Amino acid sequence: MSDPTTSDTPTYWDYLRLPQLLDLQGGLEGDEGALESDELHFIIVHQAYELWFKLAIRELRLARDHLARPMVDEQVVPHVVHHLRRVIEIIRLGVDQFRVMETLTPLDFLDFRDKLIPSSGFQSFQMRELEILLGLEESQRITYGKIQPLNHIKKLAESSPGGAKAWAHISRAREETTLRAALHEWLYRTPIQGSSPGDAGDDAAVRRFLDTYLERGQARRKIQLDRLIEVGAGKPDALRERFEATEAAARTWLMATDVEDTDRVRRIRAAALFIESYRELPLLAWPRLLLDTVVELEEQLVIWRSRHARMVERLIGRRVGTGGSSGVDYLDRTTKYRVFTELWAVRSLLSPREALPTLASREFYGFKES
Ligand code: HEM
Repeated sequence: MSDPTTSDTPTYWDYLRLPQLLDLQGGLEGDEGALESDELHFIIVHQAYELWFKLAIRELRLARDHLARPMVDEQVVPHVVHHLRRVIEIIRLGVDQFRVMETLTPLDFLDFRDKLIPSSGFQSFQMRELEILLGLEESQRITYGKIQPLNHIKKLAESSPGGAKAWAHISRAREETTLRAALHEWLYRTPIQGSSPGDAGDDAAVRRFLDTYLERGQARRKIQLDRLIEVGAGKPDALRERFEATEAAARTWLMATDVEDTDRVRRIRAAALFIESYRELPLLAWPRLLLDTVVELEEQLVIWRSRHARMVERLIGRRVGTGGSSGVDYLDRTTKYRVFTELWAVRSLLSPREALPTLASREFYGFKES
């Protein structure tokens, strides 16, 4: 067969390598003709997901590369958003695609399910790659039996024909800068009240901003508490206790006294709060959109995980998975994974515009006085 890459008259099928692609649905036996249509359906749906994952990973790396530059120009932020938006739409499509999977009935699945043991979507090294590149830490993962999930995959990879390539995806991703790390680095450098890291008095400026933010937030929350007590929305002591706990948690989190790298993390959290709060400023409009896009991406992934779990519950009930996990119970627990915890947490602390600290250095953020 002629090499499609050198052909003078490219065709649709050569360009897309369709003959080769359509030859890959033979399953374990490598014989598509011998497969029942339900199993062919099962294979094609999974392969379609893996193709989309491949593109999502490529887009995620591009977004990460832009953001990981030592200097991210303003014009670059829209590119980061663009790549992440594509990832979001792919995942959203994946959520819908479970409807196709669900046309398989529980009984028809049982006809071929057992021969899959111990293979499982759990071994989707591309999903792992995606999670790792986003910044999901190994320590955050739910253990699989007593084994860390990635070690479990590594062990399987040692004795399977495709194992070396599968594991290469995971180990390569583990060496790379994650989107979370790149985002934090970028947030860390964000000018807050016109002050940047390295400027004289930067730490004091950041603290002042946070102190004012907390004070004003506290005053507002006090009014909310009084109102709740006034209308009898709960026992006053219990309400007071809840509000006091909220105050303490807000201060701990914003001042970053809950982590070791306090100064750095404080600045990252303050930057996220600052960008969200003053998003109308021309210089902060795209950064705010970027933060929102990252949250949307993670939100879609959580929706994907819970949609997958519901589909699994519908198909196999609460039985043990072919990969050996507790099945739906395990999958539901993975819906608690969060990578961009800072961006989520900021949402509980935002204050309305009239309660925001007065903005210093307006002109710095491109605000033109009329
Ligand atoms: C009949 C359809 C399906 C069933 C019954 C099913 C069942 C399961 C179960 C029980 C698990 C937990 C691990 C285990 O013990 O096996 C799992 C994990 C997984 N499945 Fe599926 N699945 C199905 C379809 C899909 C599809 C179409 C995809 C798309 C790629 C997929 C991707 C995954 C992924 C990525 C995991 C790992 C989740 C994690 O560990 O965070 N599954 N699946």
